Amino acid sequence: MEAFLFTVVFDDSKFDRVQAGTAIFTDSEERGRRIFFGQNQGGPGGGPVGGPSCVRCHGDPNFDNNQHFNIGLDDVGSITDLG
Ligand code: HEC
Repeated sequence: MEAFLFTVVFDDSKFDRVQAGTAIFTDSEERGRRIFFGQNQGGPGGGPVGGPSCVRCHGDPNFDNNQHFNIGLDDVGSITDLG
């Protein structure tokens, strides 16, 4: 399983291509990028003060922080796995 997971590599998304300089975002995508990276918060270009900053928890390059969080689901032990 681990060996398989190491083969699952996504490195050709549009975001990856923009980072590599081989593509550019549309205006809409660029607005989303600025929100995601918290660059829209009361800046000269407008945008809501105190808007979201997703990158706080979803950092580059995998938009993860490699930590585990309790997101409110039941413990595995309390689920009857019928599969
Ligand atoms: C305070 C930390 C935090 C912030 C800020 C945050 N997230 Fe998350 N996000 C999480 C956690 C924790 C999860 C659950 C991770 C999991 O289920 O593996 C999650 C899950 C997600 C998922 C589902 C990922 C998956 O693999 O199913 C998406 C999509 C997402 N967040 C998008 C966003 C966006 C867009 C923003 C900004 C508007 C944002 N997040 C801001 C902590 C955060």
